[in-house]
Amino acid sequence: MGKIEAPVPTSTSMSAAEGAGAQVTILFLPVGRSVKVRRGDVLFNVAAEGGVSVDTVCGGNGSCGKCKVLFEEFIPAPVPLDYIHLTAGEIARGLRLSCQVAADRDMVVQVPAGGGRSDVRILHQGVTRDIELHPNIRKVFVPYENPRLKEHISDWDRLRLVLPRKLRPVHISLQVLRKLPGLIRNRDGLTMVLAGRRVIEIEQGNTAAEQCGIAFDIGSTTIVGFLMDLATGAELAVASAVNRQSVYGDDIIGRLSRSQRNPEGLRKLHQIVIAQLNELIAELASRAAIPTGRIYEVTVVGNMAMHHFLLQLDSTYLGLAPYAPVIREEFVVNAGDLGLSICAEAPVFVLPNIAGFVGSDTVGVMLASNLGVGGEYRMAIDVGTNGEMALANRARLIACSAPAGPALEGARIKMGMRAAPGAIDHVRIGSDVEITVIGGLPPVGICGSALIDIVAQLRKAGLMSRTGAFMRKSELPPDTPVRLTERVIEAGQRKNTYFIVARAEDTGAEKDVVITQQDIRECQLAKGAIRAGAMLLLDEMGIVENDLAEVQLAGAFGNFLDPESALRAGLTPNIPLDRIRSVGNAAGVGAKLALLSVRERKRAIRIAQRTEHIQLSGSAAFQKAFTVAMQFPI
Ligand code: FES
Repeated sequence: MGKIEAPVPTSTSMSAAEGAGAQVTILFLPVGRSVKVRRGDVLFNVAAEGGVSVDTVCGGNGSCGKCKVLFEEFIPAPVPLDYIHLTAGEIARGLRLSCQVAADRDMVVQVPAGGGRSDVRILHQGVTRDIELHPNIRKVFVPYENPRLKEHISDWDRLRLVLPRKLRPVHISLQVLRKLPGLIRNRDGLTMVLAGRRVIEIEQGNTAAEQCGIAFDIGSTTIVGFLMDLATGAELAVASAVNRQSVYGDDIIGRLSRSQRNPEGLRKLHQIVIAQLNELIAELASRAAIPTGRIYEVTVVGNMAMHHFLLQLDSTYLGLAPYAPVIREEFVVNAGDLGLSICAEAPVFVLPNIAGFVGSDTVGVMLASNLGVGGEYRMAIDVGTNGEMALANRARLIACSAPAGPALEGARIKMGMRAAPGAIDHVRIGSDVEITVIGGLPPVGICGSALIDIVAQLRKAGLMSRTGAFMRKSELPPDTPVRLTERVIEAGQRKNTYFIVARAEDTGAEKDVVITQQDIRECQLAKGAIRAGAMLLLDEMGIVENDLAEVQLAGAFGNFLDPESALRAGLTPNIPLDRIRSVGNAAGVGAKLALLSVRERKRAIRIAQRTEHIQLSGSAAFQKAFTVAMQFPI
């Protein structure tokens, strides 16, 4: 073990003489990134500024205990919050909360595997359907013609007259116009790039075969980009990353509070997302071996907060009742104005939002899964820190957002973690416990899909009551296998009982992975909010659970969730199992459809206009439904 240092002064407690202007270098391992910072800066912030992925839920305020990093030498002395969040063994090994450490000297810091975010499992694909291609972008080749043969005609007129009548009138910007005289006299001819009725670029020679666009799904946790060939509809490349805004908190509310009445905080969140989109653009272009300048359009879906951060819109009132967004409708901005490194005048089409926290990602899900088409009632549920859900048939579309909180993303759970290598993702309880672990590694924690499995299976095995309380050993069913009984650990009061999901000695892990009574309560709060939201939608529509022809589980969590566990845990409406299906990254598919077809884009606009938003916040009916939905149904 390395040497433990005395507590370090923070930047605020250092004298000016000690700290003024001094810089230190922090080396983050295993990524091998060196960051030079002002002496005394908080280590957690240093990692964020340097693009190093350190886990967090609370955004650095010391309440989540997720941001631990390992020091192998010059170990800072533990502070009170280390004692609260870390075990004695972790403290002895040199783990510390990075949000409590001042970078007061050169340091070498290990970010634990599975604790960081860069390796989180990201879902790319989702349900899809066949559509006719009707892209907004078209290219028209204009062959060389000796200009002297066409006297008394301007360069712009020569270009315009090439176009079919239905595309006129057409507009051109000053920037593109300035390139025209040179290119129109080039013997290779030129290619006009049109977005609707606007010439957004002219290129030397015949480039008509190269037509690409990108569809982005910007989630609070991850960002996924799809590079599409607009001429064929083929997907050329997919790239994804963990949303780096999460250094300011997993919870949207945490990020909103950073940006509310704080233009600097908003600017930072905007810059982070633009920088990440540009990195993904570069990666996609490089994979498909095309220049980024040949990307002519972008479509975007995201929740309401991501939408505001992307456009750098004041999000102050989004976080305050009645949660008014700056704009609900679709919005188009030039890529160059937004700072995206593609064709400068390429339109960025941001799909419309619904209302409240129900954003264009839900519109994307509804578009992809044809919700609102046909007479049957179908429901889509996208589980994240907010559970967004929609219920529709052709006559009526309604949607709401339920405050699920971050438990299903592994936060506020004692050994919770994201769906990254080392996370237990599925659990079965029979005569003993069987687990699967992402990456086949020794388990280090529990992700959301396993949490739902655990509560469902504990209930099925009779180890937990309908109210979510662990049974005492004396209350267990008489036929409970002894191996299960041994996993129930009673420590005084019932609330201190916990269950060993994976024993260190069986799995080669460092310590047992356990689920506590408090974890079950957190899970109940999350699943109760989602179920209550679904019940209120059914009430609003005037139908009952059994009238549902289908429940679609969207998003990464919905995809990896076991539908049977979701049903048994009471997360979804109680309908036959064969009516529940995962639809994957349907929001991303919605963005792709809107990119490939202006007809689909118009459908998305109509969906957003027609969908009624049901406000749950402050609703007495929601509170009542929530109390019931906290319980386990069977
Ligand atoms: S406790 Fe450090 S980021 Fe939450």
